[in-house]
Amino acid sequence: MEFCSKVAHVGLCTDAKTGAISTPIYQTATFRHPGLGQSTGFDYSRTQNPTRKVLEEAVADLENGVAGFAFSSGMAAVSGVLMIYSSGDHLVVVEDCYGGTYRILDKVFARFGITTTFVDSSALDEIAQAITPHTRAILVETPTNPLMKIADIRQIAALAHQHKLHCIVDNTFLTPYFQRPLELGADIVIHSGTKYLSGHNDVLCGIVVAREAELAEKIRFIQNATGAVLGPQDSWLLLRGMKTLALRMDRHNQNAGQVAQWLTTHPKVKQVYYPGLSDHPGRTIQESQASGYGGMLSFTVADAALVPQVLAKVKLLQFAESLGGVESLITFPAAQTHADIPVDIRTRLGISDCLLRLSVGIEHPQDIIKDLEQALD
Ligand SMILES: Cc1ncc(COP(=O)(O)O)c(C=O)c1O
Repeated sequence: MEFCSKVAHVGLCTDAKTGAISTPIYQTATFRHPGLGQSTGFDYSRTQNPTRKVLEEAVADLENGVAGFAFSSGMAAVSGVLMIYSSGDHLVVVEDCYGGTYRILDKVFARFGITTTFVDSSALDEIAQAITPHTRAILVETPTNPLMKIADIRQIAALAHQHKLHCIVDNTFLTPYFQRPLELGADIVIHSGTKYLSGHNDVLCGIVVAREAELAEKIRFIQNATGAVLGPQDSWLLLRGMKTLALRMDRHNQNAGQVAQWLTTHPKVKQVYYPGLSDHPGRTIQESQASGYGGMLSFTVADAALVPQVLAKVKLLQFAESLGGVESLITFPAAQTHADIPVDIRTRLGISDCLLRLSVGIEHPQDIIKDLEQALD
């Protein structure tokens, strides 16, 4: 079955008893045991809930893994994966990762003795040089947030396996519609399902999918032991949102391409970061591992004074954190999503006071362009 058919059918007719088209929301904390030592397959909703199970099986199928796990937020999913490592372990992580991922590694997991080296994941030699005898995993986002750098998943996975490490990919920006890291050799995929998977800016959720059973069991244990699971109502919202993933992603991709192209011609815009632009340094790798460029782009304005002006003047675009919903959002990474990355690192990376990030929605592209035009004027 083609991906767009598969995704339109997630959660379809899962209740054989009633034939309900939509998966029911099993709003229950616990389940009656049929007898001593017996189970219906569900005992307690932290361990498993029927609505969450349908969602977890659907995302595992879409990402082509053996098992999926739904968490209460993207950060809970990131933490759940990081908790499979132990004190003394070392991780190699993309340097312009989501600020929350940087913060939890730097301020939380470091306290528990897990150390991290942050690297430019578009430079394979830099990743290789950062590997030590204590390294256990390489974690990348591609495209990165917010500078849209591209990491070569095939090469990074091969390098990881050469050193017996896990390759973990945060696939939030592209979703399995455009990119399936497990098929390229990665071991674990993470999502902030809050973004494109759910797609409507109305639910917080996180997803983990594992390629092999042994890792899946480790994550299953952590999910149940630590308890940051996705509730049944939110699991249903994610199932509902995912049905239109293919349609939405195509439109995000198309709109972002047009907006990015238009921004390159604007006299007050200095640089546009979008992997679909012909001069993007990662474009060839992007096209070798993904079937689209996504709906995220960043750009720098010529003068930092333009930033507050644009944020105050936008009307159609909403000045708000987050991304991946049907509505276009504009963000100022230096003060919002990436505020926890130390200023010297931000400056070196190019997350400057002139950088704005756009999550291009599914509105008419001319409306988005017109709004940006009047805001920049
Ligand atoms: C790439 C990426 N990963 C993880 C997260 C964390 O997800 P959440 O906000 O759902 O906790 C985000 C949030 O913006 C993100 O952009």
